[in-house]
This record gives sequence, structure tokens and C-alpha cells, in this order.
Amino acid sequence: MAIAIGGIGQSVKRKEDARFIRGRGNYVDDVKLPGMLYLDIARSPYAHARIKSIDTSKALAIPGVLAVITGKDLVPLKLEWMPTLMSDRQMVLPTDTVLYQAQEVAAVVATERYIAADGVAAIEVDYEPLPVVVDPIKALQPGATLVREDREQKDNHIWHWEVGDKAGTDKAFADAEVVVKQDLYIPRIHVSSIETCGIVASFDKIEGKLTVYMTTQAPHAIRTVIALVAGHLGLAEHKIRVISPDIGGGFGGKVPVYPGYVLAIGASVLTGVPVKWIEDRAENIQADSFARDYHISAELAAKKDGTMQALRVKTIADHGAFDAAANPSKYPAGLFHIITGSYPFQKSFVEVDGAYTNKPPGGIAYRCSFRVTEAAFTIERLVDVLALEIKKDPAELRMQNFIPPTAFPYKSVLGWEYDSGDYGRALKLAMDTIGYAELRKEQAEKRKRGELMGIGISSFTEIVGAGPSKDFDILGIKMFDSAEIRVHPTGKVMVRIGVKSQGQGHETTFGQIVAEELGIPVADIAVEEGDTDTAPYGLGTYASRSTPVAGGATAIAARKIREKAKLIAAHLLEANPDDIEWKDYKFQVKGVPTKSKTMQEIAFAAYTNHPQGMEAGLEAVDYYDPPNLTFPFGSYICVVDIDRGTGVVKIRRFVAVDDCGTIINPMIVEGQIHGGLTMGLAPALYEEINYDKDGNIQGSNFMDYLLPTAMETPNWETAKTTTPSPHHPIGAKGVGESATVGAPAAIANAVVDALAHLGVRHIDIPITPWKVQKILKDNGVAE
Ligand code: CDP
Repeated sequence: MAIAIGGIGQSVKRKEDARFIRGRGNYVDDVKLPGMLYLDIARSPYAHARIKSIDTSKALAIPGVLAVITGKDLVPLKLEWMPTLMSDRQMVLPTDTVLYQAQEVAAVVATERYIAADGVAAIEVDYEPLPVVVDPIKALQPGATLVREDREQKDNHIWHWEVGDKAGTDKAFADAEVVVKQDLYIPRIHVSSIETCGIVASFDKIEGKLTVYMTTQAPHAIRTVIALVAGHLGLAEHKIRVISPDIGGGFGGKVPVYPGYVLAIGASVLTGVPVKWIEDRAENIQADSFARDYHISAELAAKKDGTMQALRVKTIADHGAFDAAANPSKYPAGLFHIITGSYPFQKSFVEVDGAYTNKPPGGIAYRCSFRVTEAAFTIERLVDVLALEIKKDPAELRMQNFIPPTAFPYKSVLGWEYDSGDYGRALKLAMDTIGYAELRKEQAEKRKRGELMGIGISSFTEIVGAGPSKDFDILGIKMFDSAEIRVHPTGKVMVRIGVKSQGQGHETTFGQIVAEELGIPVADIAVEEGDTDTAPYGLGTYASRSTPVAGGATAIAARKIREKAKLIAAHLLEANPDDIEWKDYKFQVKGVPTKSKTMQEIAFAAYTNHPQGMEAGLEAVDYYDPPNLTFPFGSYICVVDIDRGTGVVKIRRFVAVDDCGTIINPMIVEGQIHGGLTMGLAPALYEEINYDKDGNIQGSNFMDYLLPTAMETPNWETAKTTTPSPHHPIGAKGVGESATVGAPAAIANAVVDALAHLGVRHIDIPITPWKVQKILKDNGVAE
């Protein structure tokens, strides 16, 4: 029965793949409207410069170039600045100063994409270069070059945020038997989704209606932002329709609003003609929001026997020229205070200072729940530093300290209430799967022969599902999510949800939730998202929130339908509703299985033969405000071999044990973990974006910015434990980001473990061959 329905726990094949594998996906760049114009953007070659003049005459002389827009043109429209999601403001186009390399300077509207590009090349801008600050630590020093002259506050400090008991933590450190300290830099990285950002804006001057096809992870929030920012131009929310069609990867990078979106909308409103803007790859990697860029100083206090007691963390966060992170308003450093991880610290204190620099806006939650990757990396590295200090096996140290399964729901010292967990079980399964004890023996033998082999563990705790609306909002909009379900007379179903897949398979998994709740086969259930004219209001998909929040809404909306269906079943079966039970995906009279009605029969009756006095139809809506977040977790073990000649790190094995509570679709979850692990491998060994002292980006193309390909990606071995969330309607926790959060520390810990006998305690990621080779040379062990 379960297989026919395709309900929860079934590896139903992804419905959306029918179009994707045939090349029939419908992405923003596939949208072609009659009379559509094209927009391209001129960008600054300087990281900080005064604009003395912009000469647009040569561009305007090109046949087919219809307009050139500069910052000064936007002033009368009050559109030269726009708000960011973190209550900062960001230039749409500058009127006098540019603040980072590749910042938007002017836009060209033309009849063809390539004519627009010719127009961009013909714009002449006279710049006066200004001093540049790229290092956030220097940016916070007195006398540093001021990045944001527009602010009243005349320094580069954005905000200070702290959480925990400072005095208590300081005392715990003063009294501690062992203290370890580690400075870590988690470099800037870039999302690099296959599809870049883009928009087609189409303003109908007669109806006064704006339709926007856009690469956004949060269409409803964008609609509200457009109404708030451009309301004075006559754009009211009921006349704005935002459509996110298929999206080729978002990973957080498609949450912010980019100037190109605003310019295309502005150009369409002014001309009354559709305008398309599609970023090219170089623009995407140079100018879109970045992730990470955290300078962390972390300390852990413990007893000599390894009992962890206190954690103290100080961080400087580089946010570039505008604080355009997409964090919930209350948490400027995201959910970084999950940093106590899987351990029951008694005292902790965390502080973060945000800094402006002459770099593109940073701070997006790249496949993590707002700074959770930074937190997990820090604690899982620090635990290994402690293990080395007290000469204890890192697996044993973790097992000794884990929050025990009996302690859940567990209130962390930094304020979170973990819903459920069994960390020891996950680590034990990972150790058994990989053969941990044997590997340690092999390592000891190899070390005697001078061979370099390392084993690294990461036992991370995640925090996903923003959010309980009492704590979570973005720009004041409370974070909840929604589902609307309509059962048609013939028993076929339309589900509309407030989130938006970027490749995660929602059309399949949300159908599975409804299939399970209503007993209707998943093939008969259509799931639609991403159109603000039809979907109920939701906050979108990022931070693995779809399943924890919209998944809850979907289950509850389906249960509301089941409640009504029960009354119709009682009517059809001529029984008292109290005598009706839901069993084997049908309603039946208790104890009389032959007297039953399927949901399809009930659906037909809901329109043709419902009880007198009851409203016709079978549909429900739910706006779900979760009582808490969900806390997925996992234990990863990585084995590396290091080449003593080249310093190249080879991942020999990687076992990932994940626990995301009840699994809706095991195949999709495994796919999420494979992708996430590869995105965790990337910053551990390959990816980083640096800037030279003049603010020139180093790594603005895929020759310099090393995305791992199939060649670099090892064979991921996965396993699972299942610890349901006690508060989620179906017991599910999010999973989309777990692997990206957990993997980097396992890999870094494995490399450090391979080199620990040489006195190595830490290597900043990415751990490149030349960093390793230098260590080998410095220690006289290079071949
Ligand atoms: O918000 P996002 O979709 O990125 O993340 P998610 O909620 O963790 O879900 C990623 C995909 O995995 C979706 O298709 C989920 O429905 C599916 N999933 C699942 O099948 N079982 C879970 N316990 C969690 C997610």
C-alpha cells in the first residue's frame, strides 16, 4: 500500500526531473516576451574611487542603444539607494563614489543583448582612485580609510553583537585546568550556482501591473520589498506579480536584492516594455554577495581529563561595503551562537563585530542557516585542538562530552533549545562503518614508515527551520510558512506552498507529505510554488527551512482536510463521526473494514453529496509558525593520505552519518547530502576569494576559483540514524545544508591529524598543496 501511495519514507523518483533531464526546464533566461529590451551593466574597475564624470554620448550613438542610466538619473526617482535585508542601505547606482571593484556604475538598455554590451564598453567614466581598505581588522583601526561616507557614524564599524555570560565565562577560564586557543580564518567564498542571477521585468502601463520573472529564493518577500521601495512610483503590492520559475541553484546567493533587478524593473516601468537582465559568469562571481569571511579567535576551557567547560569566541565579520546579509533581523551574526555544538558547555560567551571594507557585500548564508558553517567549523576544529593538547583520541573526547540523549530537549548555554539528538549513536555508526580502530592502527604503522595518513571527525549540530516568528523576522516580516491544498472532485490535488525549490525536489517531497496524510497517490498531486499571484504568502527557501516550516504547514493543511473528510465519510457511511477511523489510507467504520470510503470517493462527495449545511469543497490553508527550530546532526569521518612530494591531500574515504529526523524521501535526502558534502569539500581544499591591497579580486573566474569537479570529488559513503523532531508535525528536520556545514571540519581535522606528529595544530582552509608542502619542507619531511 505504502509504495502505491508514494508517501513518507519512499524513494519516489523526482517528478521535476522529467523536464530537467529533457532540457525543458523553464529558467528566467528562457522567458522571452514580445518587444523585450536588454539591459547590461557597466562596472567599476576600482575598489574605491570618486566618479568625476560619466560620458554616455558614445554609447548613446550606437544604433540600438536606447538609454543609458546613471546614478544621477535615479535621484529624481529616489531609487539611487535601496534597503538591504539587514536594514543597511546599498547603492543601486553611485552618484559620486564607488566602493568596490565590479560595483554597478551605469546601465545600458538596448534592443539586443550584445548591443547593450557594446554600449557598456563605450561608456567613459573618469575616476579618481581613493585609498582602499580590504582587511576588516585594519578597517576597524582608528584612522582607517572610511568606506561609508554616507553614514553618520564616521568609522567602519557596523555593529557589535554578543551573547552569553561574559563574567562567568572569564571566571571559568581563569579557574580552568586546561585552556586551548585557536585563531581561524574562514575565507570568502562564492556560491557559484550553475545559473547566474537574472530578471525579466514587464510593466503593463495600461493595467499598472508589474510582472517580474526573477531568480529569487523568496518571491513574496521580494514583492513586499518592491512595493515598499517603489510604492512612490505607483507600484502597489496587488499590482506586482513575482514569479520564480525554475532556479538553477540558489544556496543563499539568490536571497539578496541586486542592483540589476532594480534597474531592470525601473527600465521597464519607464519604457512600458519588458526588460531582461541576465548576469554573466564573471559578474556573478565578482559582484554578487559573498559568504563567510570570518576572522575568529576561539578558546576552550576544560578539565585535564577532557571534560569541556567553557567556550569564548571573538569574531570580526567582513561584510564588504554594504551589510547585505540575509540574516533574521534579531541576529546580525546569524545563528553563530550554535557554536557550542554537540557539547554541554556550562559557560560561554560569543562576540562578533561587523566591519565595512572595499569589497562586494558579504554575509550571505551559503548553504547554511545563517553562519552555522562558521560555528560548526570552529567548535569541531577546537575539539581536535583540545584532543591534541591533552593527548586523547578525538573520537573518545567527543563521546566523553556529548550532550546525552536523555538530556533532550536540551537548553544550550547560549539560549537554544535543541529538540532531539543522539550524538553518540551517530558517531559510533560512523566509526563502525569506516573501521575506526583499524584505521588508527594503520596510521600508527604508516607513521613509523614516514607515510602521512590522517583521520578527521566532525560531530556537528545544525539549527534549521527559521523560524518561530517570536524570534525570527526579515525586515520586520515574521518568519512562518504556508501551504494551500485543494482536492478536486475527481480526487486530484493541487498544493501551493510559500517556499521555492532551487533544485531540492519540492514538487516530489511535498506531494509525498500530502499523499501520506490524505491517502492519495503522489502521482495525482501537483505541487506549485514561486508565483506570488497564486501561492500563499511565505518567506521562501533558504537555511533548510522548507521542510521544517512549509513541510509542517503542508501536513497541517492536509490534516484540516482530513478532519472535514471524516465528517463527509460519516455522512456517506451513515455512521457517527466518532465511530469513523483513518486506517490504511481510508476512512472506515471502526472494526468494520468493509465499510470504508477512500479520499477520492469523499472528494467527489464534497462537491456532489456533502451533508446538508456543510460548505462544499475540500480545501485548506495553513500558515505554520513552528514552536521551535529543528536540530539535525551528524558525524562525519574522513581519511586522507598526503603526498610528501606535492603536498596534495587525497581523500581516501569519507563516511557521513546524518540524522534529519523522519525522512520524507531517502533518495532525495541522499542527493542533498552528496551535493552538500561536495560543497563542504570545496572550501576545505579548494575555494577562496582574496583581494590584493588595491581591492582587485583574485579569483574572478573558474581558472582561479577552484570549484571541485567530479575528478576531485571522492566517493561519499552515507549512512543514517533517525531521531524524529518531537515538535514537527511529521517529525522531520531540515537536511539540505547539513553536509556543507559538517564536512569542512572533518577534512581539515584529517589533514591536521596527518601532520600532528610534526607539531601542526591548525591550517587555515583552503588547505592547498602549497600550504601543506611548506609545512613538509619546514619540517624536513618533504620528498
Ligand atoms: O529548504 P530546503 O528545501 O533547501 O531544505 P530541506 O527542507 O532540508 O529539504 C531539502 C530536500 O530534502 C527537500 O526536497 C525535502 O523535502 C527533502 N527532505 C526529506 O525528504 N526529508 C527530510 N527529513 C528533510 C528534507
